[in-house]
Amino acid sequence: MGFRNIGALLALSVLLGACTDNTPPSAANGGKPESPTLENVNSTHIANAAATPEVWLSYGGTYDEQRFSRLEQISPDNVKTLGVAWTYDLQTSRGVEATPIVVGGVMYVTGAWSIVYALDAKSGEELWVYDPQVSGEDAAKGCCDVINRGVAVHEGKVIVGVFDGRLEALDAKTGKVVWSTLTVDKSMPYTITGAPRVVKDKVLIGNGGAELGVRGYISAYDVNTGALAWRFYTAPNPAKKPDGAASDAIFAQTANATWGDRGKWTTEGGGGTVWDSIIYDTVNDSVIFGVGNASPWNAKTRDPEGNGDNLFLSSIVAVDADTGAYKWHFQTTPRDQFDFTATQSLILTDLPVGPKEALRRVVMQAPKNGFYYVLDAKTGAFISGKPYIDLMTWASGLDAQGRPIEHPDARKWDKGFLNIPGPMGAHNWHPMAYSPQTGLAYIPAQQVPQLLKSGTQDQTHKKRWNVDGDFSAGVPLTYPKGTLDFIRKDFKGSLLAWDPVKQEARWRVTHPGPGNGGVMATASNLVFQGTLGGELVAYNATNGDKLWAKQVNSGVVAPPSTYAIDGEQYIAIATGWGGGWALNYGVGWPKAITPDVGHVIVFKLGGQGHVPDMPTNIVDMRPKGQAFGTEEDHKRGLARYADNCMVCHGPLVVSSGVLPDLRWSYQSADKDGWDDIVMNGLLTGNGMVSFREYLSEDDSEAIRAYVLNQAWLAVQNGDARPLGDQ
Ligand code: HEC
Repeated sequence: MGFRNIGALLALSVLLGACTDNTPPSAANGGKPESPTLENVNSTHIANAAATPEVWLSYGGTYDEQRFSRLEQISPDNVKTLGVAWTYDLQTSRGVEATPIVVGGVMYVTGAWSIVYALDAKSGEELWVYDPQVSGEDAAKGCCDVINRGVAVHEGKVIVGVFDGRLEALDAKTGKVVWSTLTVDKSMPYTITGAPRVVKDKVLIGNGGAELGVRGYISAYDVNTGALAWRFYTAPNPAKKPDGAASDAIFAQTANATWGDRGKWTTEGGGGTVWDSIIYDTVNDSVIFGVGNASPWNAKTRDPEGNGDNLFLSSIVAVDADTGAYKWHFQTTPRDQFDFTATQSLILTDLPVGPKEALRRVVMQAPKNGFYYVLDAKTGAFISGKPYIDLMTWASGLDAQGRPIEHPDARKWDKGFLNIPGPMGAHNWHPMAYSPQTGLAYIPAQQVPQLLKSGTQDQTHKKRWNVDGDFSAGVPLTYPKGTLDFIRKDFKGSLLAWDPVKQEARWRVTHPGPGNGGVMATASNLVFQGTLGGELVAYNATNGDKLWAKQVNSGVVAPPSTYAIDGEQYIAIATGWGGGWALNYGVGWPKAITPDVGHVIVFKLGGQGHVPDMPTNIVDMRPKGQAFGTEEDHKRGLARYADNCMVCHGPLVVSSGVLPDLRWSYQSADKDGWDDIVMNGLLTGNGMVSFREYLSEDDSEAIRAYVLNQAWLAVQNGDARPLGDQ
């Protein structure tokens, strides 16, 4: 090869180095990159994934995680003819949050309990199922249902983060375990719900558990062996000593000083779990991840001495992809006290926000706290931020550095503060999408207020929900007819199209309630989203016109993905109502009261299949015993219920239907049956563990009295209704 050719090669490589995600290297050679196979799919394919839209290779579609597909066969003109191609029964009654991954003609999707399914992507035929056998005791460590958001693929392997803290690589052909690594200290209440990401020769995974008391971190493992490569902690260890981790230097330099020397963070871990968003910036070779909320939530008890920011809680952090060495961070909610995770979807793109409107590579997020942030992807510099919701109580805006200007009472929890957004966030994990064609981000936004008040929870709740807040605050013992309808109206959800350059809303579709599904956009100007009401909907990406909708007979929380085989485009959605909103808030949306609802449903143009029928087993909404106990008992029952049970069985003892509604349970009318379950752990295998460590016999009986009292209150108010009745 002569010098001239080397010069040309150099010029080409410079060009490639400068080009961003959307231009695949081989496109410069005049050809479309080859579709990866099961055996060879690797990080390079993911880096070029935008150019191979017939496959869906990683959680957010590409490393930029825009959830934007270039497939155009399904378009605004023909979307009305979209029909069911095939369906698959996940056989679960718990939440399903996974993005289906498709490569080599195979779909890899996860259901509840971290179960992995390999399905023929064209026919839906089951190829194999892998059940990692998560125990009921480990299931009880979850804040928000035994959910899983999906897998990663790499060279013949499928990698899954298991709820109990394992990271496992499976043989993509057979589902057999290739390697299995425990990523957490099992004596602590860690869980994994997020999808692993493969970057070069490493697989990245974080964990959850901040509501129960853990210290957050993200780890990188060798994708071939499962050996730990690096780890980055997001909160200091209690002694503020080095961990021998990639985060040591930045903690010594700045982060340690943002925490006091005592307080509950030293025993409850401080939080900051990296439980969802992890992206890879191919241009700057950075791994960028979102960090979760504090543990415990209440800053006054967590860190009573200082007034520091508590780094890296509620931050977006960038590290070197190979070593995990710190590059930059941006903290969305300094000294978090509101459960304001910054773990929501991170999206990379180029926006005209540079000098003279030049393109600038940015990372964007709409975290729980209600502000939409645009940051420089290379440096983390704050470019802009605006509230993406209409109503916000905790802050009035951002200062020039992007720091929130807090309401003076937002942290005064002794008297209580009605926070909007509440801990459910103005946007939760349900992924947003971004279309570089419309220049709009599509956010599953919501409004869920909550009264935040100093707590009654204490050390006795170690390893169960323990946020130092009072979940009985604002919850009345009795309430008048119509209250549940009123609450349902007050909890709002929408699909919001947001212009990140102008930082303003372009259009909005209102849903019947919050907790709707993740979003996907396509180059044919469509936006897809599933809803709490059980519809999969296609919208015009420019103006939000509803172009097509199909009832899928289950509330949808997962995001869709799309792929093509033999010239046909498919839209895939995993259904299965559940997750944090369903368990923690309940209040009985109709679609909710349907057990055994998890399916994969795949659509194509002219598809002639059928959505599986709604299950017909109707919950018998009648109390099974007489009310008993004094008002004092009921008050105590409410307090103990709020501390111990509400996060799974719902406020006001109104379940979402994912877990049993205790008002209608035969066990609530049978002291012995109740004790067997609540005190003796009869249903431990299913995730209902014994609460003997936290409750006296009298407490348990007071809860039962409160539950039955709520059942009879519902009858009195006409709220005890048959299935399907809105
Ligand atoms: C971490 C979530 C979680 C928490 C917290 C929780 N439960 Fe449960 N509970 C469950 C699950 C899961 C089931 C269903 C088990 C099954 O399917 O067999 C259940 C079932 C039950 C049942 C059986 C209902 C029936 O009709 O089968 C009772 C009674 C019950 N829980 C009471 C309580 C009480 C009282 C508390 C608080 C002291 C509580 N639970 C806290 C998860 C939870």
